[in-house]
Amino acid sequence: MPSLKGKVAIVTGAGRGIGREHALALAEAGARVVVNDLGGSLAGEGTDTTPAQSVVDEIAAAGGEAVANADDVSDFGAAEHLVAQALEEYGRLDILVNNAGILRDRMLVNMTEDEWDAVIAVHLKGHFGPTRHAAAHWRQLAKEGETLRARVINTSSPSGVFGNVGQANYGAAKAAIAGLTVIAAQELARYGVTVNCIAPNARTRMTEETFGDLPAPDGGFDPLDPANMAPLVVALSADEAQGITGQCFFVWGGVVNVLRPWEAGELLSAEERWDADALLAQLRERFPDGAEPEGMVAMMAKAGGQSMRVG
Ligand SMILES: NC(=O)c1ccc[n+]([C@@H]2O[C@H](COP(=O)([O-])OP(=O)(O)OC[C@H]3O[C@@H](n4cnc5c(N)ncnc54)[C@H](O)[C@@H]3O)[C@@H](O)[C@H]2O)c1
Repeated sequence: MPSLKGKVAIVTGAGRGIGREHALALAEAGARVVVNDLGGSLAGEGTDTTPAQSVVDEIAAAGGEAVANADDVSDFGAAEHLVAQALEEYGRLDILVNNAGILRDRMLVNMTEDEWDAVIAVHLKGHFGPTRHAAAHWRQLAKEGETLRARVINTSSPSGVFGNVGQANYGAAKAAIAGLTVIAAQELARYGVTVNCIAPNARTRMTEETFGDLPAPDGGFDPLDPANMAPLVVALSADEAQGITGQCFFVWGGVVNVLRPWEAGELLSAEERWDADALLAQLRERFPDGAEPEGMVAMMAKAGGQSMRVG
């Protein structure tokens, strides 16, 4: 495991599931960790400081150093407080893992405004706030002449990058997080900050609710263990990963697929503005069987993984 000794990390939503594993692994690699978690329900209701504190206790019991934080990442001011706590407590910040999330699944035709707003707020604004405040701190250090090797690791989803039925709010937020990753990577490169994102897949309360509770195997490797996501976070946090930025990694079990983002595709080119009739004819000629999304389950299989939906 690369050594992260001397580094300080914030992991949002680290009281449970995938975030908890990120926090444990970063601490094991030597980083001091701010364990953020609001502690609410899967739908984002209520608060509870117990999950964050219990991860802090686990890290301390294993000989690491951590502190709890219960800020709501979707609140811009609270996100500023979260970054400030890392700086006050440990005097520096090197790694920000944006991971906190909630679910309010519904078919688009039935989705309420609240279901849309809450999910966009926790995921998309909950990535923007901490990143914005951490970036301002890092820019200041860079201006003062410090050479940085700072990291932002975001959390997208197969639902966002491939598109999943019933998750218009969640998938739109997750696709936007992949977009934010590419833009932030380009903007923050000049300060020595890399920005990448993960599209994870693991057994947590989030997937149990959506896809059913698939039991862990009796023995051997469990491809749905949320700890399978953590080695990528540790690897990207290492100084040696300084050149890798703006990437989105699909992770399932032992599979890490470096996804291709939206890229140039089928070109329909004319010397001047297209006539709609001619364009329609061209589209029908190029796509005689139509053109439509393949769907999340098929795309996950292509990426080397498996949806929990197909077991
Ligand atoms: N489990 C999967 O297969 C999977 C797949 C794709 C993406 N993801 C993403 O991975 C991330 C972690 O999900 P998980 O599966 O571990 O779910 P989880 O519910 O176990 O963990 C999410 C944590 O985020 C915390 N949280 C929610 N809102 C918060 C807020 N406003 N501020 C601070 N903390 C908040 C929750 O209290 C919870 O502990 C999420 O972003 C999720 O969308 C998970």
